[in-house]
Amino acid sequence: MTLHPHIQARVRSEIDAVIGHNRFPSLGDRGVEKMPYLEATLLESMRWHPPVSSIVPHLPIRDDTFRGYFIPKGTTIIANAWAISRDPAHFESPSSFKPERFLDEDDSSSTPTVDPRHFVFGFGRRICPGMDLALHSLWMGVALTLWAFEIKLRDEDASEMKNWGDRERFTFGNTR
Ligand code: HEM
Repeated sequence: MTLHPHIQARVRSEIDAVIGHNRFPSLGDRGVEKMPYLEATLLESMRWHPPVSSIVPHLPIRDDTFRGYFIPKGTTIIANAWAISRDPAHFESPSSFKPERFLDEDDSSSTPTVDPRHFVFGFGRRICPGMDLALHSLWMGVALTLWAFEIKLRDEDASEMKNWGDRERFTFGNTR
């Protein structure tokens, strides 16, 4: 929110319009139809920096073949959520923080082809059972914080943070 003040302002104006100043946000206010930009901002936050960037290792209980690769039973499989989040085939300009990509208002050619909830919380039988609780908690945290506060950098921190948003946590030799 400090790096993208215009996004913070747009989320806050959505909260102001729907909730106003006379009551706190509550979970009953949650919904894509009610506050689409807040939902898009949550999705984009998780896509931009997946909290568990290399998903907990899995282990096949029998031999398997996937897209021509033979995977012997017992192999350690690490799904790379970070690489999925940075795949330009799924997300146009993947390093940019852009909630609009999840809204219809965006140019349809840049609409994501993958929902971040389908890789940020893991896969298959071991997918995170706390996903809904996590998303509701995040929504409450963001809605309450931006309802009450404006988050800004102090002047003395501004120059240090200026380019932080463009940094990548990881780089891969074979990124497209
Ligand atoms: C943004 C918040 C969260 C993220 C990004 C997240 C992500 C993940 C990921 C990636 C896994 C591994 C899934 C896999 O092995 O494929 C996992 C597992 C798990 N998560 Fe979460 N999680 C979050 C919040 C929570 C919350 C709030 C709870 C509980 C209240 C929770 C409980 C668990 C448990 C118990 C597992 C182990 C599931 C198993 O191995 O069968 N998580 N989570």
